[in-house]
Amino acid sequence: MDFKKNVVVLTGASTGIGEALAHQLAEQGAWLVLAARNAEKLEAVAAECRERGGRALVVPTDVTIEDDCRELIERTVAEYGHIDTLINNAGLSMWMKFEDVEDLASLEYLMRVNYFGSMYCTYYALPYLKITRGRIVAVASVAARAGIPTRTGYSAAKHAMDGFFESLRIEVADAGVSVTIAYPDFVASGMHTRSLGADGKPLGHNPLQVDKIMTSEECARIIIKGAAERKRQLIMSNRARFGQWLKLIAPGMVDNIAKKAIEKGK
Ligand SMILES: NC(=O)c1ccc[n+]([C@@H]2O[C@H](COP(=O)([O-])OP(=O)(O)OC[C@H]3O[C@@H](n4cnc5c(N)ncnc54)[C@H](OP(=O)(O)O)[C@@H]3O)[C@@H](O)[C@H]2O)c1
Repeated sequence: MDFKKNVVVLTGASTGIGEALAHQLAEQGAWLVLAARNAEKLEAVAAECRERGGRALVVPTDVTIEDDCRELIERTVAEYGHIDTLINNAGLSMWMKFEDVEDLASLEYLMRVNYFGSMYCTYYALPYLKITRGRIVAVASVAARAGIPTRTGYSAAKHAMDGFFESLRIEVADAGVSVTIAYPDFVASGMHTRSLGADGKPLGHNPLQVDKIMTSEECARIIIKGAAERKRQLIMSNRARFGQWLKLIAPGMVDNIAKKAIEKGK
């Protein structure tokens, strides 16, 4: 029950890993602030959170808009008076080869959602997190640590997140604020169906073998435990753990593992 009465700002809370995080944190009695664009879905998640024993405030937020992120933090403090935890989970992926991209604005948008959105929320929350010696969680991806074909723009955005939060960790350590970076491998959620295709529109189907990959609930459990323990990093699959070392001695083999994972969809 590390998150009992813990004020948690959670982005990307309307579905997938974020929804699972919200449910599990509510079971611990967390005081949640749920952010995403879809207000209706957020209200449904909030109702479920209250059922499970948490408090929940809904703040419709587009993390690509700096003012929305500032307002998210201001509304959190107005409601609960302080902030203990910020979980930067909102994200968007892609499923297209770079040479097929029809409009480069898609890649710019991926950077705005995954990197700028996390950076804006963190900027406005940081003064409050320093007061509570709180926690920052960044939900990155294995794509933050390795190249993945069909994911150039996504991988770049997650590498940007990784560099940002690795640097910030050092800056805020003396203030007692921890930074936990999560690197999930494939997780079953709607993200892959929503991934941007070559035309910049959602792919519309999920090419992954969903029964062979981690569930959103399992991913959320690992993130919550890791955040509670103020872990530096959460690497969630054996191949990612192995890949870290393999990259030092045989990086070409890591490229092959990534290529096969995309081809097989698991
Ligand atoms: N699923 C995977 O295989 C996987 C693997 C590695 C890392 N991850 C990362 O895990 C995180 C959660 O992904 P997921 O699998 O749960 O994906 P998901 O099911 O597609 O959920 C993404 C969440 O982000 C929100 N979001 C998207 N754009 C937003 C914006 N502009 N402003 C505010 N919120 C926005 C969505 O809500 P609205 O649409 O309502 O705004 C939704 O709540 C992401 O950062 C993702 O990159 C996922």
